[in-house]
Amino acid sequence: MAEQKVQQKSEQQYQPNQHQLINNCFIGRNTKIWNFVNIYDCTIGDNCMVGTFVEIQKDVAIGNNCRIQSHSFICSLVTIEDNVFVGHGVMFINDLLPPSGDPKNWKRTIIKKGASIGSNATILPVTIGENSIIGAGAVVTKDVPADSVVVGNPAKVLRQLNQKEKEMINKK
Ligand SMILES: CC(C)(COP(=O)(O)OP(=O)(O)OC[C@H]1O[C@@H](n2cnc3c(N)ncnc32)[C@H](O)[C@@H]1OP(=O)(O)O)[C@@H](O)C(=O)NCCC(=O)NCCS
Repeated sequence: MAEQKVQQKSEQQYQPNQHQLINNCFIGRNTKIWNFVNIYDCTIGDNCMVGTFVEIQKDVAIGNNCRIQSHSFICSLVTIEDNVFVGHGVMFINDLLPPSGDPKNWKRTIIKKGASIGSNATILPVTIGENSIIGAGAVVTKDVPADSVVVGNPAKVLRQLNQKEKEMINKK
């Protein structure tokens, strides 16, 4: 079995239990990870939560104060900034013509700070702008501007965030 090299950004190492596969990761302080996860070669910041049945692949970077809800799949080349919510069963995509086999063909996704992704959304390689909300079940094929709500397949801008929503996000 591969040696587990799990480090935590504090004096104490993160100690995976027997129901967690966590290999060669940096896990931030006060980050809670539930059972039955497969997480490898990536970085997760402070004060995050990772739900059950989540896979997070090599070279993913997740910032501070993020929630990754159960059953989501976060593939290589995804960067998630601080204060991002990823709902249940969100699927990220890096290989647009599978199976390309060659990671050089894979494309990058960036989720900017404060964004919120609804359950069962599919995120193709795009940039999602700050504080934007992705509706449940959306298929996001193009970049999403900041402060927008998008829904549908393919996802389209439904509206901009209202003042109350912006204030709520700023309080996070
Ligand atoms: C998109 C969302 C934020 C609602 O935004 P809203 O501006 O309040 O939208 P409304 O409810 O007023 O609906 C506006 C229109 O968008 C449609 N709509 C709302 N959510 C939608 C969605 N996820 N997908 C497709 N259409 C949607 C509505 O049917 C309505 O259409 P109509 O004008 O033809 O009647 C919300 O519906 C959503 O999907 N949130 C994500 C929730 C989630 O997944 N949480 C995860 C943890 S439980």
